[in-house]
Amino acid sequence: MADNKVTLNYEGKSFDYPIIESTMGDRGFDISKLRDQTGLITLDLGYKNTGATLSDITYLDGDKGELYYRGYPIEQIAEKSNFTEVMYLLLQGELPNQDQFAKFEGNIKSYNYVAEEMKKIIDAFPRSAHPMGVLSSLTSALTAFNPKAVDVSSKEDMDNAAVMLIAKFAHLCAWTYRKKQGLPLNHGDNSLNYVENFYRMTFRMPNDKFEMNPTVVSALDKLLILHADHEQNCSTSTVRMVGSAHTGLFASISAGVSALWGPLHGGANQAVIEMLEMIEKDGGDVAKYVEKAKNKDDNFRLMGFGHRVYKNFDPRAKIIKKAADDILDALGIEDKALDIAMQLERVALEDPYFVERKLYPNVDFYSGIIYRALGIPTEMFTVMFALGRLPGWISQWKEMRLHGDPIGRPRQVYQGAAVRDYVDMNAR
Ligand code: SDX
Repeated sequence: MADNKVTLNYEGKSFDYPIIESTMGDRGFDISKLRDQTGLITLDLGYKNTGATLSDITYLDGDKGELYYRGYPIEQIAEKSNFTEVMYLLLQGELPNQDQFAKFEGNIKSYNYVAEEMKKIIDAFPRSAHPMGVLSSLTSALTAFNPKAVDVSSKEDMDNAAVMLIAKFAHLCAWTYRKKQGLPLNHGDNSLNYVENFYRMTFRMPNDKFEMNPTVVSALDKLLILHADHEQNCSTSTVRMVGSAHTGLFASISAGVSALWGPLHGGANQAVIEMLEMIEKDGGDVAKYVEKAKNKDDNFRLMGFGHRVYKNFDPRAKIIKKAADDILDALGIEDKALDIAMQLERVALEDPYFVERKLYPNVDFYSGIIYRALGIPTEMFTVMFALGRLPGWISQWKEMRLHGDPIGRPRQVYQGAAVRDYVDMNAR
């Protein structure tokens, strides 16, 4: 029978902390009384061992390389579901029936007009601006045009704000691409589904008939599903932290976009392709770059490898790798980067440095190959990640608010100067 508490012995006293049970995976012990009882706090850089909240949304087993959305295995979801249905599942906790799906999709379509004034904001950016910086700004700017979505506290108002943001965010992602390409910003077409609409808004040329390519739409839909949520990762924790101050949904998501931009997080998909292109330009010497990644004196890292939680293959990487093969075959594309990626994977997975540290390909390692095959420029890869992660961010924000989580305010272990008196300038 597993213990139901943890006992801490400190300065001759014993303190008990209750175990918090989990449906799957990590059990935790509740230290909310630790500082009052012992005067101690914990220190856990990067929160590697710290649970920030209780959640019902997503579970991943890093040792087995398994991922579940509301209890459903990601392999089944990726094969059988679609992105709109996954958005509903994450937000509401259950798969929708026909009527619920139709109502949800209809609500999204009722909100998917973005105010023309937003185009003036995007016009003000230089074309050289990174799309993630543009996206974060536009997401926050949505607050100004949708004030009702700011101060929400009931589940119904949160669901409304969620649908509004889901509807408009796809436009903002498409518009960041159009801005970069110097193309006119266009509105959606409600006769299409969510992913078709995004694809057409992004790639429709003003002087040509648009051909909807079902192979591309299916690949995009699968990629968005695979990025939809992932427990308390850096950007989701940012959304929760900002939202814990009762900041509005749009501003909280804007903060999440900024966190995802980092090359150690969502920005890795762009960094992977840049790394593969660099290796290709350097003659394809994969072994040289594996050695660089192992060299502590070299700050080069194998982008797309390693993960805070997965100490096995990222299940999403496996699915994306297969999808990359399929889409390249379907589109008849030969991509040297994919060959280099597969060589890199093979060499790294045989190398003791990576094996000992349990460094495996993560979600970002292959996704860039597909985005590139779909004609999406490298700087847009993390925008695609953001579009996929949006329902996860919103679901986690909503759960945090409905659970009544307190405002996030971690403590610290101070190691600065001890108390000292001020010294006048002329005496220094
Ligand atoms: C995402 O959290 C999530 O769920 C994120 C995500 C999501 O869906 O939200 O899955 C999306 O962000 C995926 C990760 C994308 N980032 C990258 O691919 C960047 C490259 N990876 C690394 O920077 C790193 O692996 C992290 C940031 C992903 C994880 O870092 P950790 O958990 O803090 O691990 P660490 O830096 O402490 O590394 C442990 C050891 C170190 O060596 P030692 O000091 O033990 O000798 O492993 C080494 C590291 O130097 N290491 C790497 C490496 N990653 C870790 N060495 C070479 N190349 C790498 N990629």
